[in-house]
Amino acid sequence: MTTTRASFPEGGRGWNELQQAMRATSSGDIDWKRGRSPLFVFLNDAETYEIGRKAYFEYFSENALGGSRAFFGIGKMERDVIDYGLSLFSAPDDATGVFTNGGSESIFLAVKAARDAHRARVGSTGSMNIVMPDTAHAAFDKAANAMDLEIRRASLRADKRVDVEAMEQLVDGNTVLLVGSAPCYPHGVIDPIEEISSLAVRLNIWMHVDACVGGWIAPFFTRIGRPTAPFDFRYPGVRSISADLHKFGFCPKPASTVFYRSLEDQQRATFVCDQWPSGVFRTATLSGTRPAGAIAAAWAVLNHLGTSGYERAAHNLASMVDAYVDDINGIPELEFWAKPEVSIINFGSKELDIFEVAEGMAARGWLPALTRRPKGLHLMMSLFHEPVRDEFIADLRASVADVKRGSTGTPKIEATYS
Ligand SMILES: Cc1ncc(COP(=O)(O)O)c(C=O)c1O
Repeated sequence: MTTTRASFPEGGRGWNELQQAMRATSSGDIDWKRGRSPLFVFLNDAETYEIGRKAYFEYFSENALGGSRAFFGIGKMERDVIDYGLSLFSAPDDATGVFTNGGSESIFLAVKAARDAHRARVGSTGSMNIVMPDTAHAAFDKAANAMDLEIRRASLRADKRVDVEAMEQLVDGNTVLLVGSAPCYPHGVIDPIEEISSLAVRLNIWMHVDACVGGWIAPFFTRIGRPTAPFDFRYPGVRSISADLHKFGFCPKPASTVFYRSLEDQQRATFVCDQWPSGVFRTATLSGTRPAGAIAAAWAVLNHLGTSGYERAAHNLASMVDAYVDDINGIPELEFWAKPEVSIINFGSKELDIFEVAEGMAARGWLPALTRRPKGLHLMMSLFHEPVRDEFIADLRASVADVKRGSTGTPKIEATYS
């Protein structure tokens, strides 16, 4: 077998040399600062970016695992961030939450809590399942895989929101969780949360809202007079909500939050071990050690932006998304699969193969993100994309024209997410 394994370094290289080497290694990266990446990196403005970066490095070495015994400041900042989220999500008095390393971890914890609540209620140990929209994030599949749960995906209505009757048909006595997204990743629309909540209450099943994308920004769309559908604890069936700070909270990675309707619900996802020599080990997260810098940065960004800053961000995002939608609607061969509600757009074509168009965009330096049911070009838009709108649209027109002329071949590109 041939191997390209790197050999263990001799050491002794100074910063300048290391920096140069790292930059050389990354020289082929996608140019995200020029809006070429449709996901992965999020920006509000340069000042918010800088505040997040500085706050992160103030607490670069501390460990949030020690937030209640050693790093009291970080512990307090974490509680503040959770309180800010609880107030945003109409949470009842005994609701609580946890700061995690990302949406997947937030979702994992909520799934575990829901499974254990079901077990406690029904006494079941047999096969259990999650009923969720076809568009729910693959992080639920990952959690289900780790916890031996079956995933049942329900079909969508014409507007790409889940069909709640189809969800009900998939439910049985072993269903531990119903899911709705706010918004879903593939189409950027918010599922009918109120209807799913009513189903959850009627059948006494835990409901989770995946607001990893919209959680920290959609409420501000509503406040600036561009209403998005509510998705929070005001609906009695909602037992938990995941909301990522490192997406549209504009905080440095890794930063997400998961909220529970009650402390009892949260404790179902808290792991306690007192069987080993070093005493009680208790964590409300999957990780033990956690970066204190991410918590400090989130606290600083939230206090820097506050209500007025997030309203401004919502305004800027909404105007940019509207302008992209208008421009794309001006290309006759293209059409939207759903009306974008927050910051995700997805469009395709009934006339030509959008994956061929995507290859044209890739050849012009844009990283294409794709959906395959139906075939679409997908962008999770951030304010990096505003200054490059004209370039993007010109390249999109040119790529569509190439495909129409027949100057492209069968596309080799495939929809991949990571
Ligand atoms: C709707 C939704 N849920 C969950 C996730 C997973 O988040 P993370 O990548 O932070 O684990 C994403 C990521 O884009 C998402 O869009």
